[in-house]
Amino acid sequence: MTSVAEIFETMEYGPAPESDKPAREWLAAHDGAFGQFIGGRWTAVAQDALFDVQEPATGKPLARVTQGSAADVDAAVKAARAALPAWRDLPGHARARHLYALARAIQKHARLFAVVESLDNGKPIRETRDLDIPLVARHFYHHAGWAQLLESEFPGYEGAGVVGQIIPWNFPLLMLAWKVAPALAAGCTIVIKPAEFTPLTALLFAEIAQEAGLPAGVLNVVTGDGSTGAAIVDHPDVDKIAFTGSTEVGRVIRRATAGSGKKLSLELGGKSPFIVFEDADLDSVVEGVVDAIWFNQGQVCCAGSRLLVQEGIHDALIAKLKRRMETLRLGRPLDKAVDMGAIVAPVQLERIRTLVEAGRDEGASMWQPSWACPTEGCFYPPTLFTDVAPSSSVAQVEIFGPVLVAMTFRTPSEAVAIANNTPYGLAASVWTENINLALDIAPKIKSGVVWINATNLFDASAGFGGYRESGFGREGGKEGMYEYLKKAKTPSTLDARRSTLASSNGKGSGERRASSVEEILPAIDRTPKLYVGGKQARPDSGYSRRVLGADGQVLGVVGDGNRKDLRNAVEAAHKASGWARTTGHARAQILYYVAENLAARGDEFAARLSAMTGGDGAAEVQAAVARLFTYAAWADKFDGAVHDVPIRGVALAMHEPIGVVGVAAPDESPLLGLVSLVAPLVAMGNTVVAVPSERHPLAATDFYSVLDTSDVPGGVINIVTGARDALATVLAEHDDVDAVWYFGGAEGAAAVERASASNMKRTWAEWEPRDWTGADGEGREFLRAATQVKNVWVPYGE
Ligand code: NAI
Repeated sequence: MTSVAEIFETMEYGPAPESDKPAREWLAAHDGAFGQFIGGRWTAVAQDALFDVQEPATGKPLARVTQGSAADVDAAVKAARAALPAWRDLPGHARARHLYALARAIQKHARLFAVVESLDNGKPIRETRDLDIPLVARHFYHHAGWAQLLESEFPGYEGAGVVGQIIPWNFPLLMLAWKVAPALAAGCTIVIKPAEFTPLTALLFAEIAQEAGLPAGVLNVVTGDGSTGAAIVDHPDVDKIAFTGSTEVGRVIRRATAGSGKKLSLELGGKSPFIVFEDADLDSVVEGVVDAIWFNQGQVCCAGSRLLVQEGIHDALIAKLKRRMETLRLGRPLDKAVDMGAIVAPVQLERIRTLVEAGRDEGASMWQPSWACPTEGCFYPPTLFTDVAPSSSVAQVEIFGPVLVAMTFRTPSEAVAIANNTPYGLAASVWTENINLALDIAPKIKSGVVWINATNLFDASAGFGGYRESGFGREGGKEGMYEYLKKAKTPSTLDARRSTLASSNGKGSGERRASSVEEILPAIDRTPKLYVGGKQARPDSGYSRRVLGADGQVLGVVGDGNRKDLRNAVEAAHKASGWARTTGHARAQILYYVAENLAARGDEFAARLSAMTGGDGAAEVQAAVARLFTYAAWADKFDGAVHDVPIRGVALAMHEPIGVVGVAAPDESPLLGLVSLVAPLVAMGNTVVAVPSERHPLAATDFYSVLDTSDVPGGVINIVTGARDALATVLAEHDDVDAVWYFGGAEGAAAVERASASNMKRTWAEWEPRDWTGADGEGREFLRAATQVKNVWVPYGE
């Protein structure tokens, strides 16, 4: 027994095992054996076609899965083909809802996914729990957005068709997400094959996707080895192949698809440089190296496996690195305290050993930490090579293990020459405190991604992919979407769809029938108030205004807001300025949540709208939900640009929120109009003081109770009801309001423009009524008005 004092002395960690019970129960529920997932059903398990999947940490069998035959692949392709027309023809908004549901489902089962992945792959639970699975969810959220924006952002394009996807074992579920999310968003249907070493999370995903309501046949999972992959590649009815794996197999697939008309994207191997200049912060560099090459045991296609160090700091850095390597913790993947887990399979371990031996034979010096590496299970210690010749095999061949090779350079141009001395070109990492140098080097390196003072950063919004023998095509970002799209033969049908805001989910009759109890009892009085700083507030005036229904009867009352109420609201909006610093992803999630909660109360809102306007309340609610999806989609996608200014350097045009924006909403479409104005502002990081329709304000006062339940931080959206034009003028005069949007007709528009001169605030005042239901009610016009561009000039170079 170690004493507490000893623990303080040694800083030894005790094991902190994560339970594998739920994961094993899930396997047991399938009797430990899986058929294929085709057309929304598991195929019967054929005992003679099963092979073992092992747990790398113990070498013990974990489950048995089916070796997919050509007939299995054919059945899966047929199912995908049958599901294609209905899936492709859904409005983007409907597919967005499916992707959103998948993102939510992943979050709901996050820990189960994390544990199954660690068991199956051998990677530490800390990584699956904190990186793989959150990134998977993020990928589905982000692509829910592209589905929503498909018609407007990719006019004339449609899904490529049935896609075959073949993925590797190093990030089993994340690679699935990188492939499945954009394909679904684009309107493709899928046959995916996970790697033979790590098929389990793909099977779990298939099951959970079905529970989340993904239509049968849209996603089909066929397990098996390379021959199953080859059957997918060769199938004549597959329109596109997406592959991640070795360059060797990538080349086979390129040849096999050549001339077939199939679209192809390949994400292959790498031997990425990690370049350290002598002015770099060496402590950060050391942690960077840990993340670059010991993350996922080095089984990362973009691992920074070649450490290029400027000569003067070589010895100091290597010494620091060795000290850090001594403290890395390697062990059971389910132990929450370990940094490194197991290598995926014995064959991979053997490959690492052989390549390391070759490096020693070639005369490079090998170093490993002094602690003992477990001898049972598939483990390999972190390894460092120095005195490496740039042409040697360890410097050239992708090892795909925790092996770092260090080389030196003298000048920046020599660093670039060594960095590019590889057939690959996936990623690079550049470390220097000198921004001139970093930006000079980055464009000179032949790779698809360059990280500056960072490494292994990934996000759904930033495309990832290689140059040269690292493959072609990008995953993530808008560019990644094009990999799953093709020019539509009949653009007119798409353009017709463009304006279809109503979702496929046509719930909500518009009329809420009073139940017999409601007919007998008088309704409980409801008192809509103002909404300021996340709280309901009584109007300062102490007055209320009557709201009349379409039939002329009094429907209710709302507070009569005044100058003082607006002042409080503006103050609250300023206090919420931290909203601008939240990520687009976080803002998107909140907008989706608002949509979800609005949809849940759709019938009630529809009835209220119909009573006020006499119009189709249900359609308006549906359109408002869809609009919230649109701006949730845009929240992390309204990218800036990089301008090609005539200097040696770049000008980064960045979108910034404007600040506190006053909004006066239209009378037509009282809920949809309000949402159409507030959502883009909020999506871009502004905070808002909104004055709803004067005639039909009840939709807005109901709406704040939706905001209340949707994690919208207090002060981000404030609502003050009352005499709209007078209130809008007050907002226009207010020195702490940065912009005003007015959509209430010509007269009020002129007043707002005049009043805005005081602090020269931006105004967007519309003279003509708009049709809020169609394409005119949303899009880039609103996003441009909700942002301002800041140009950051960065000259660089020697
Ligand atoms: P691999 O490229 O053979 O396997 C990747 C996927 O392709 C698996 O699903 C496999 O079943 C499938 N596949 C294999 N042969 C195929 C074929 N002829 N047609 C269609 N699909 C086929 O990679 P492997 O053998 O697992 O690993 C070997 C080396 O590849 C690693 O040591 C590493 O260097 C590299 N690799 C690179 C990856 C990356 O992300 N860039 C990922 C996995 C491996």
